[in-house]
Amino acid sequence: MKYKVKDIKLAPKGEQMIEWAELHMPVLATIREEFSRTKPLKGITVGAALHVEAKTAVLMRTLAEGGAEIALAGCNPLSTRDEVAAALAKDGFRVYAWRGESEVEYYANLNRVLDCRPRVLIDDGADMISLVHAKRPELISHIVGAAEETTTGVNRLRAMERDGTLKFPVIAVNDSPAKRLFDNRFGTAESTLQALMSITNTSISGKTVVVVGYGFVGRGIASRAKGLGAIVVVVESDAIKALEAAMDGFRVMRMSKAARIGDIFITATGNKNVIRAEHMRLMKNGAILCNAGHFNVEIDVEGLSKLAAKRREVLSDIEEFRLKDDRRLYLLAQGRLVNLAGEKSLGHPIEIMDMSFSLQALSVEYLLKHGSELEDKVYDVPVEIDHKVAELKLKSMGIELEELTSEQVRYLKSWQFGT
Ligand code: ADE
Repeated sequence: MKYKVKDIKLAPKGEQMIEWAELHMPVLATIREEFSRTKPLKGITVGAALHVEAKTAVLMRTLAEGGAEIALAGCNPLSTRDEVAAALAKDGFRVYAWRGESEVEYYANLNRVLDCRPRVLIDDGADMISLVHAKRPELISHIVGAAEETTTGVNRLRAMERDGTLKFPVIAVNDSPAKRLFDNRFGTAESTLQALMSITNTSISGKTVVVVGYGFVGRGIASRAKGLGAIVVVVESDAIKALEAAMDGFRVMRMSKAARIGDIFITATGNKNVIRAEHMRLMKNGAILCNAGHFNVEIDVEGLSKLAAKRREVLSDIEEFRLKDDRRLYLLAQGRLVNLAGEKSLGHPIEIMDMSFSLQALSVEYLLKHGSELEDKVYDVPVEIDHKVAELKLKSMGIELEELTSEQVRYLKSWQFGT
């Protein structure tokens, strides 16, 4: 089966969406030009589990330009844009994804990608990598390595490495210093708040926004929510991060206290059940709950539904839970990552994914060149790749770097000069 998508007739709309994304991805365009000359991926199959949307399609086309065969599935049951999946399928890509997959369908689609016997994997959340290890071990010797896009995925892979279960090298694209800055911090902030506003059409200004987790994602969301006029409260379990939040000017408190005052709750911890029934019991009537982490485990949705006397969809991607005392709490996008899982969510801004996916494309090339020299470990993105992407981006923005004089270079390398 060459593809399995919702409706191939949606392809023309998807093509328009991809074209618009392409216009704003100059870094990937440069890499695509290089790839079309050098064909570094010639004859290999890349198996990808990513959010199937317009920016992802541009990455797929770039890899194809480099000579790769592509097999693509989603990495979240709700984040596929059916128009884009159709456009890719029409173009001849092997795509197995649609919005609203059941869990069984989701894993069947990951298996369809694996049936194509990929040499390199690109994953977002590590479901495909863990599926290979758990259920398809016969493929392991054929796989040179994988690149992982997100924090949650990298956490899982590091756990596999610690257990000695990881059987091929993985590049943690997520952990690149550049990616953490532009994608996790700025990209997630913009796309999460954009999704929150477009799903609810309500204001952030003047509201108390509780951000749970002050990692790169939480920091970005807190700062942008403040910029929109919110009163921001941070909940954090790590002392250094909590201190940073406090010194950034946010109120920091436990969830049991924040629950009473928040109008909007946004989870960004990568951990499970950070908002539980005991907190929901304390929340104000009308409170809105959403999640910016990769998996739908951060808000205890089961606990919420047990508390509720009635549950109904009030608008697309807004579910109302009416508690026994008549208070109403609203959950967005089923507690899945709100910036991609909502019908109106668009994912990160295009320019952000231009950089993240450029890191992915160059990491795939690197794995093919150097995979056999690597151990079965989680690796950082090679520094030269990080720098190349940052430099290409700056060039596309017309920004020049200051050049150091030879005297300055010598000074920085010396120890003899002091007071
Ligand atoms: N679009 C495609 N992949 C994405 C990701 N990991 N985060 C946000 N937007 C995306």
